[in-house]
Amino acid sequence: MLWHCLRSRLVATAVLVFLPYTTHAWSSLADGIIAGLNNAADCASCHSLLVTFRATAALGDDAFVNSLKSLCKRLKLQDTDVCDGIFESVGPVVAHDLRSMSPFGQTSTKFCNAMLGLCSEPPVNTYTVPFPKSAPENPKEFKSLGRPPFQVVHFSDVHIDREYSVGSEANCSKPLCCREFSDQSEPTTIPAGPLGDHACDTPRNLVESIVKAIDTTNNTFSIFTGDIVDGAVWLVNQEDVTADINLFGEEFKMALQAPVYPALGNHESAPVNCFPRLTTESHANDSQWVFETSSAQWRPWIGNAAADQIVHHSGSYSLVVPDTSLRIISINSGFWYKMNLWLYDSDDQQPDPNGILSFLVSQLQLAEDLGQRSWIIAHMPPGGGDVLLDQSNYYDQVIQRYRNTIAGQFFGHTHADEFQLAYSNYSDQRKDTATSVAWVAPALTPRSGNPAFKVYDVDPDTYEIMDAKTYSTDVSHPEYQIDPVWKMVYSTRDLYGPLIAGGLDSSDSLSPSFWHQVTELLETDNQAFRMFQHLKRRADAVRYASSGHNGARIIALMYAGDGSGKV
Ligand SMILES: *[C@@H]1O[C@H](CO)[C@@H](O)[C@H](O)[C@H]1NC(C)=O
Ligand SMILES: *[C@@H]1O[C@H](CO)[C@@H](O)[C@H](O)[C@H]1NC(C)=O
Ligand SMILES: *[C@@H]1O[C@H](CO)[C@@H](O)[C@H](O)[C@H]1NC(C)=O
Ligand SMILES: *[C@@H]1O[C@H](CO)[C@@H](O)[C@H](O)[C@H]1NC(C)=O
Repeated sequence: MLWHCLRSRLVATAVLVFLPYTTHAWSSLADGIIAGLNNAADCASCHSLLVTFRATAALGDDAFVNSLKSLCKRLKLQDTDVCDGIFESVGPVVAHDLRSMSPFGQTSTKFCNAMLGLCSEPPVNTYTVPFPKSAPENPKEFKSLGRPPFQVVHFSDVHIDREYSVGSEANCSKPLCCREFSDQSEPTTIPAGPLGDHACDTPRNLVESIVKAIDTTNNTFSIFTGDIVDGAVWLVNQEDVTADINLFGEEFKMALQAPVYPALGNHESAPVNCFPRLTTESHANDSQWVFETSSAQWRPWIGNAAADQIVHHSGSYSLVVPDTSLRIISINSGFWYKMNLWLYDSDDQQPDPNGILSFLVSQLQLAEDLGQRSWIIAHMPPGGGDVLLDQSNYYDQVIQRYRNTIAGQFFGHTHADEFQLAYSNYSDQRKDTATSVAWVAPALTPRSGNPAFKVYDVDPDTYEIMDAKTYSTDVSHPEYQIDPVWKMVYSTRDLYGPLIAGGLDSSDSLSPSFWHQVTELLETDNQAFRMFQHLKRRADAVRYASSGHNGARIIALMYAGDGSGKV
């Protein structure tokens, strides 16, 4: 994000030449980079720019980090402490990348796409995901017996800020507010309330309210799709993230009656987003502490076998929910994330970094062999624009192969209440070709929206979703800072069921076909579309105010199934 910001500032301003000249040693290196950035307007010039970057990285991590810090401050991209913190943390990884990749290869094109927005992403590298068996000719039928559903809570992106300070400035110049920052000299304009603010992450008091709200839903278990740690990304380090994962585990285990099955988010790492690959020389085990910490914390929830898998499968595990035939497969999607800087440290294109896909396939095959149904849970929805196209495509192959076994996929990360669809033929998107739906839960952090979570009614025989209810608390309500009131905002079934062609029968689940019909509705019905957008944004009018687009294809992102890119 900072890189994007850096680039747009540079492209937008011609005033750079008037920047005060300093004689600081790193400024001259920064000058070279600034000159390069000024000329970088397209993909070819981005590749040339990498030559300049690489020359700086060749001087060593310190030289590289210091020139980026200097650049960030001279361009006033962020406050001084943010500039220093962010580049001290990610700078050495970027320097390592630049020294390891050829400036004109495919990896550098991907880097230019992800970090500077100056190249299109290269087309999918064709790869056929290996499967142990081909799809059965007569797949098992999962039939609802009409028994009453059970409840499952899906919550995501809690982003708990352990340094949240009541009364501190909630209207600050940094990416995250409501903390005591040493450079805060002006009198406070908006004091941080006890229960949170839209420019801030989740305070401790809100955690108490959240766990109470979850506990009143009669849920059998919860799924949590990642991002425990706060968004002060320029300050996070291994010690803080370890403490955050531990506190989350301890507090939620103590407060909640039902178990939680979690997935790791991109914020469960330090530097943020950065999970090295097993092929990364001398850094391969740099995030093993994340897996060990979460394994230990989650063991009482997920059991010994799954907890051991986390340590050996880079954060992924699989378990069968007690007293059910439902296999939950939790995978670490960090190795598919464009912002994971360790993914750019080689010119080799690795189809399956750290074997996450092959672990997923092995667990789905196991479920198929045992006649179980499966839910996939992970942090990042694989149809989004911040997922590498290759991995999105390969993931889609897995979804298509095991579509009979997969009863649902569940994600977070976008902070929005939305969904994605997979089709068996992306050139022929119909109700009959919709094969899988990804449920994306809204965030619990009040940062840029109202805290919200979902409660699913689950059929106990098919494990399909019969209804999804979003619960939320309104940050602008006068009572919010005293005692947040949680309310059901809407029932998906009640809201869209009557609006889709033919309606829903009481035995119909909220299937991929149903969701396809919702996209058709949203394309034609402006009022329904506006309502969807409002709900999607967690009632945040500010952040998305300008969007007046009517087109479900924009909101219902699809996997890069045919390699032609996402809509
Ligand atoms: C709570 O869940 C149990 C077990 O799934 C179910 O039997 C019961 O009807 C549910 N109660 C309510 C109020 O939803
Ligand atoms: C927030 O801070 C900015 C910059 O310091 C200031 O201009 C603005 O008036 C503040 N907002 C409020 C509501 O006080
Ligand atoms: C990473 O850890 C594994 C298991 O603990 C070990 O076998 C491997 O040698 C380590 N790799 C490196 C590069 O240290
Ligand atoms: C996918 O749909 C397109 C458009 O209807 C059709 O031409 C093509 O044959 C289909 N592909 C497959 C594999 O069915």
